[in-house]
Amino acid sequence: MIGCWPTEGTPTIARTAYYDHIARQWSRATGYQGGPLKRYALNERILTRIEGIADRDILELGAGNGYFAALLRRRFSGQTPHSLILSDQSQALLDIAHDEFRVADAEYQRIDVQEPLPFADASLDLILATMLLNELPTT
Ligand SMILES: C[S@@+](CC[C@H](N)C(=O)[O-])C[C@H]1O[C@@H](n2cnc3c(N)ncnc32)[C@H](O)[C@@H]1O
Repeated sequence: MIGCWPTEGTPTIARTAYYDHIARQWSRATGYQGGPLKRYALNERILTRIEGIADRDILELGAGNGYFAALLRRRFSGQTPHSLILSDQSQALLDIAHDEFRVADAEYQRIDVQEPLPFADASLDLILATMLLNELPTT
């Protein structure tokens, strides 16, 4: 998968390196609610479809700076998931998620969704992925 990094001399770099490169800038721009689209429309639409998190095994793919898990925990405060894993292919974004948007009892794992997921079938109750599929190649 190829992304464009306009300020570098080379016109294209691997997508993983791209998100690692822009991680801090991305997190500053999108902040603790994911930016305006998510703040005013998307977050609430997703949250209202989730019935609860108590005792559930939850995985977020392509979690970026991890802002959504904090909203999720807040919405369902008083409920404790059995497990909550935040993942992304970008280690730099995962580090920001861990260091700046950390949520209680979460695990942080580097996972590339183009590889087989390291979980047994039917071992998860809820998988979240916001604005991730549009990042993936269709062929
Ligand atoms: C548009 S951002 C969305 C981030 C976050 N979900 C949000 O809504 O703010 C796309 C995210 O997908 C991640 N990503 C892109 N390709 C991926 C892949 N193959 N596997 C896992 N994560 C990927 C990027 O590192 C980035 O964090």
